[in-house]
Amino acid sequence: MKEPNASASGEFKIGGELAIHRLGFGAMRITGKGIWGEPDDRDECLRVLRRLPELGVNFVDTADAYGPEVSERLIREALHPYQKTAIATKGGHTRPGPAKWAPVGRPEYLIQQLHLSLWRLGVERITLWQLHRIDPKVAREEQFDTIKTFLDDGLIRYAGLSEVSVEEIEAARKVFPVATVQNRYNSRDRRSEEVLEYCEAHGIGFIPWAPLDAGRYNKPKAALKNIAKAHNASPHQVALTWLLRRSPVMLPIPGTSKVAHLEENVAAAGLELSDEEFEALGGKE
Ligand SMILES: NC(=O)c1ccc[n+]([C@@H]2O[C@H](COP(=O)([O-])OP(=O)(O)OC[C@H]3O[C@@H](n4cnc5c(N)ncnc54)[C@H](OP(=O)(O)O)[C@@H]3O)[C@@H](O)[C@H]2O)c1
Repeated sequence: MKEPNASASGEFKIGGELAIHRLGFGAMRITGKGIWGEPDDRDECLRVLRRLPELGVNFVDTADAYGPEVSERLIREALHPYQKTAIATKGGHTRPGPAKWAPVGRPEYLIQQLHLSLWRLGVERITLWQLHRIDPKVAREEQFDTIKTFLDDGLIRYAGLSEVSVEEIEAARKVFPVATVQNRYNSRDRRSEEVLEYCEAHGIGFIPWAPLDAGRYNKPKAALKNIAKAHNASPHQVALTWLLRRSPVMLPIPGTSKVAHLEENVAAAGLELSDEEFEALGGKE
């Protein structure tokens, strides 16, 4: 049987320049419980990462806060010097403990975190750096200005935002070119529909986090269950195929700590849904 390859998901050019395969990988799950500390099976997580280039996955999403530090360190251990793999990281969201998150957007903190990511990943420039959250306690212009200096100083090639509204993207675009937006989105959670449409209209990559609804598609409702059965596929695969078809700027980053799940997810790039099947999953499934 032919090995699955993410190239089947098609290509997107970040910033209109850097070509990646649209189906990427989210590296939040290669950490401990609550995204805290080392993963239970470190060797399997390294195998997951090393399998990515073999499967044509050349877009990896991580963050300083995953672990914290653990995800970026493992990525370096497994994939440095990265060759054709684009590593996207984030800063501006801190970890006060397991499963706890708190935004910190003060410029001096963002600058420190960017440098720590550069060192941990072992690069002179981050391909894509995303502001993990706009910190409501800090003027957003200060955060945007800081990102502009990252770009101007050549420390990052492209910049993105996460969990933002259209109004926030427009405010940021007055300061720096927004290459990507990362919001929660999947066939069951369509709250960011307007943001997706804005991204599509402006050539901004839309990175849906929790593309597999954080693993909850293993309890599918009838429509998804039947479509998956018809394709001899898993509900998770159909959920990914649906996302890829939803928009040409869609860049799903399913997260997993297991090689078998990674292979299954990449194989979803080769599935095709009929118009009827796509529509059937179009509403709240
Ligand atoms: N910007 C943000 O604020 C933000 C927030 C959350 C996440 N993210 C990013 O988005 C990425 C994806 O989100 P996510 O990891 O939270 O959720 P997800 O990709 O929707 O789902 C991941 C979960 O699904 C399970 N899974 C993966 N493939 C599977 C398969 N084929 N069959 C059954 N279960 C499967 C994984 O468990 P196993 O490990 O057992 O496979 C994991 O628990 C993250 O890795 C991270 O890079 C960003």
